[in-house]
Amino acid sequence: MKRFENKVCLVTGAGSGIGAATAMAFAEEGGKVIVADINETAAMAIADKINLAGGDAVALVVNIADKASVQNMIGVAVEKYGRLDCAVNAAGIAGKLTAPLHEYPEEDWMNMMQINLFGTYYCLKEEVTQLLKNGGGAIVNVSSAAGLVAQPGNSPYATSKFAVVGLTRTAAKEYATQNIRINAICPTAIETPMIMEGRRKLAHDPVALEAAKNYQAMKRMGQPGEVANVIVWLCSDEASFITGHAMPVDGGAFA
Ligand SMILES: NC(=O)c1ccc[n+]([C@@H]2O[C@H](COP(=O)([O-])OP(=O)(O)OC[C@H]3O[C@@H](n4cnc5c(N)ncnc54)[C@H](O)[C@@H]3O)[C@@H](O)[C@H]2O)c1
Repeated sequence: MKRFENKVCLVTGAGSGIGAATAMAFAEEGGKVIVADINETAAMAIADKINLAGGDAVALVVNIADKASVQNMIGVAVEKYGRLDCAVNAAGIAGKLTAPLHEYPEEDWMNMMQINLFGTYYCLKEEVTQLLKNGGGAIVNVSSAAGLVAQPGNSPYATSKFAVVGLTRTAAKEYATQNIRINAICPTAIETPMIMEGRRKLAHDPVALEAAKNYQAMKRMGQPGEVANVIVWLCSDEASFITGHAMPVDGGAFA
């Protein structure tokens, strides 16, 4: 029997990168997957890929920064599959700017908090509420290496990701006796559109690309599938005694 047979797995940010790899990994393990993203086309493409391969997935549009949209996401998921067993909060942004704190535009600063922190909080709140109703489950929040150490030039990102670790650890203790495990992962550089084409544009900057690779002891970036494997393991029964962790996925960077 596959590890997630008969389990319902929700992934936000599932249209791209780490979230997409996680949605596909759950499906390969037999899970029914809710592929949630603000980008409808991207979410549908991943859900189609899963269904064409013989899996069971549904695409869902959500803006995690909007509480009502998050409530709708959980409502539709439970209406479709009847319950929720695992949730992965991978949706997030890294911003477009590199600037010191005193020059970082306040509007962009607040927007990043609204998505990365409050969005994750809205998701976590609704997911826990549902897990309490159906007897428990597991949640993974996608923080970052920038949730463990400073990221100069991107203060709102680091602040939001540190806060996600605090949220994770606190919630883990609050629900530990109610069969709900809550962990965070803290990846370093992972080869996804966010890092290759986003703020850091590594695909177009060979020097920055080399530096990003060298940050890891392994002298390479991680692949989305390598992060997905950790997330799926944390959600599985094999991790039954693990809760409240902020686990680096870092190719030895923090060794
Ligand atoms: N790539 C890295 O190096 C890296 C490292 C550490 C942490 N992370 C974190 O991993 C997570 C996934 O990042 P990724 O690298 O796969 O990026 P990505 O840009 O490839 O994917 C992010 C997905 O989130 C979706 N999204 C953005 N805002 C949303 C919103 N408001 N509501 C719903 N969906 C939204 C996007 O449409 C996109 O599909 C993020 O939280 C990111 O901060 C990434």
